Amino acid sequence: AVPGLVDGFGRRHRDLRISLTDRCSLRCTYCMPAEGMPWLPSDDLLTVAEMTRVAAVAVRHGVEEIRLTGGEPLLRPDIVEIVSGLASLPGAPEVSMTTNGLRLAALADPLREAGLRRLNVSLDTLRRERYTLLTRRDRLGQALDGLAAADRAGFTGTKLNAVLVRGVNDDEPAELLRFALDRGYELRFIEQMPLDAGRTWTREGMVTADEVLASLTGAFDLVPVPTRGAAPAERWTVDGTDAVVGIVASVTRPFCGACDRIRLTADGQLRNCLFARDETDLRTLLRAGSDDERIAQALGLAVRTKAAGHTVGSPGFRQPDRGMSAIGG
Ligand code: GTP
Ligand code: 5AD
Ligand code: SF4
Repeated sequence: AVPGLVDGFGRRHRDLRISLTDRCSLRCTYCMPAEGMPWLPSDDLLTVAEMTRVAAVAVRHGVEEIRLTGGEPLLRPDIVEIVSGLASLPGAPEVSMTTNGLRLAALADPLREAGLRRLNVSLDTLRRERYTLLTRRDRLGQALDGLAAADRAGFTGTKLNAVLVRGVNDDEPAELLRFALDRGYELRFIEQMPLDAGRTWTREGMVTADEVLASLTGAFDLVPVPTRGAAPAERWTVDGTDAVVGIVASVTRPFCGACDRIRLTADGQLRNCLFARDETDLRTLLRAGSDDERIAQALGLAVRTKAAGHTVGSPGFRQPDRGMSAIGG
């Protein structure tokens, strides 16, 4: 049998996250500076054929889910081709995407036809002035239109991701949850991680899972969902219904112990953790004509050297050289 991607702590890796570009149509203050970043040169980005090849090898070694991230993945002009290439791989991995939703009005239908199974859409606020302040772009209407287009295209199981920023939208959890419940989306609140390019993250600035829970329990009856597996979100059912709300408490309640994720950056570097300091240069291997065996070896080695978990909050912690937008969330 083909060996699975098991690390030194017995964690089996089933989830490959592929960042398709480091560019974005928004400039969320907790992610990028207003002026953007020094973008990756386009020659360095993996082609559809290159990323499909890495994915095929990963799937052969036990990967079951592929998540497309960015930057903003829908900025790739070849996005539909990428989705259909990955979705039709032998082993039929489940292909999903995390997006800001701005281009969904045009792309939801073709993406669904190409085999995209699920969408997670970033939505931090429902108020136009706040959205403009947080993302530095006046595009709330476009994001909401994108969500509606995803519904019309037949996507189900869509999740909303909300990062709360103190003094801007930290009073909005209940309002966001009402919106999600009304439309049948699973909302997750995400603790901000020290992965912003501007390195402005502080523990005090971050809105914690406990704070979110405190503000939700005033308005809703929440009951913990016991099963979790390798999912980053802790989940609660709401008001005795099947509807669920989640919190991704990466900082205050790390879930590294059950992590099953590896990451491929848009420029073809393999990372075994969001917070890894080392990367494996698959692009060079691919472009040097390496065979699948060699790619599989590199994947196996990267997984075997994965650390137990991140050390955010401890004195020795150093932020990785790349920010979230260049790693992929
Ligand atoms: P599903 O549960 O399959 O819908 O996806 P997901 O929650 O893994 O995907 P998504 O891209 O929506 O991730 C949500 C948030 O979880 C991200 O924005 C990150 O903040 C966080 N996250 C994802 N992967 C990791 C990880 O490996 N480590 C940590 N600490 N946080 C992660
Ligand atoms: N910490 C936590 N989540 C972040 N995101 C972007 N930057 C950060 C950060 N520093 C989230 C976005 C989006 C997903 C891709 O990652 O809000 O939902
Ligand atoms: Fe773009 Fe996502 Fe970063 Fe916002 S958080 S600027 S949507 S990559």
